[in-house]
Amino acid sequence: MTEAATTTLDRAAVEAVDPSGQAEDILGMPEHLRDALWRVESAGLEPHDAPGGLVVAGMGGSAIGGALARSALGDRATRPIAVSRSYELPGWTTADTMVLCASYSGDTEETLACYEAAGAVGALRTVVTTGGRLAELAREDGVPVIPLPGGFHPRAAVGYLTVAALDVAALCGAGDSVRAEVDVTADHVERLVAEWGPDGPEDSLPKSLARGLSDTVPQIAGVGLTSAVAYRWKCQINENSKLPAFAHELPELDHNEIVGWSGAPDLARFSAVFLDDADLHPRARQRIELTRALIEPAAASTFVVQTQGESATERLLSLVLLGDLVSLYLAVLRGVDPGPVEAIERLKEELARE
Ligand code: F6R
Repeated sequence: MTEAATTTLDRAAVEAVDPSGQAEDILGMPEHLRDALWRVESAGLEPHDAPGGLVVAGMGGSAIGGALARSALGDRATRPIAVSRSYELPGWTTADTMVLCASYSGDTEETLACYEAAGAVGALRTVVTTGGRLAELAREDGVPVIPLPGGFHPRAAVGYLTVAALDVAALCGAGDSVRAEVDVTADHVERLVAEWGPDGPEDSLPKSLARGLSDTVPQIAGVGLTSAVAYRWKCQINENSKLPAFAHELPELDHNEIVGWSGAPDLARFSAVFLDDADLHPRARQRIELTRALIEPAAASTFVVQTQGESATERLLSLVLLGDLVSLYLAVLRGVDPGPVEAIERLKEELARE
């Protein structure tokens, strides 16, 4: 039996590697969703019709909320919703576009550049942040700010950032309001927290998955609703577990990545996780099973996990919680602190010196 198979993943084991309380922040998602609804409401944002759609500009943990909101809305989006993870806005951004600038710290240079670029084209702007330069600029320019609570790593504020993007989408006419859906989702996620958290059984889904992925390089495959979630899993495994991980989506990966798997055993132990959803196109679901069977001989382990819940928001956030917990338990199995992201900070410091 491997060491991972016998390592306990209870509260004491988590606390031993997690001095900054990342576990509590992950398990706090239900409360974050409720608090986010309240904060957005209290910000008193006025509806502003944006026929040109919505661009969410942000990086890393601050951008993911926009991507998840776009997935949750799915075909309920009535106008284009794009996520810009760069220094530039899409070329089609005009005065008719709403640009939501999302930066937890408020000091991310790419997001600040997008804020300026949005101002230059006269786009409608909204900011979601804890403060920093972005809040200062917004205050000077009279741009509405959705205030985020401090004290988190940006990636742990995913519930807040998703709700902010959903609400701004509704206010600018890019999608239906899903406030009631978010409220119900908070209760749903609360039940999953009890089942999947460190106090839950040792054979719970996230604990078993973390054991199965331990000592491998995970490849996360999403499809439709779950594509943005696959990217979230990858980023959380990178940042919390301090491991390489990669994300791709079906059906596209059936046209390239599937071939590369034949060389995988020559390089390392690669594993695959397919993020399934009951509402997928029936052919997409068939592809999950066929793809899994084809790569299985070359993979150290393969898994298919299902979204849980009724509404799109419930199903989406159930898998976000699952991935966050898998990344936390992987950190515990590796004996690493899930909190610090030194390489990101070093890079930012070095860029600031240039
Ligand atoms: C850190 C994290 C990073 C940051 C990113 C942008 O937890 O996830 O990806 O989110 O470096 O910084 P902020 O969010 O402050 O704009």
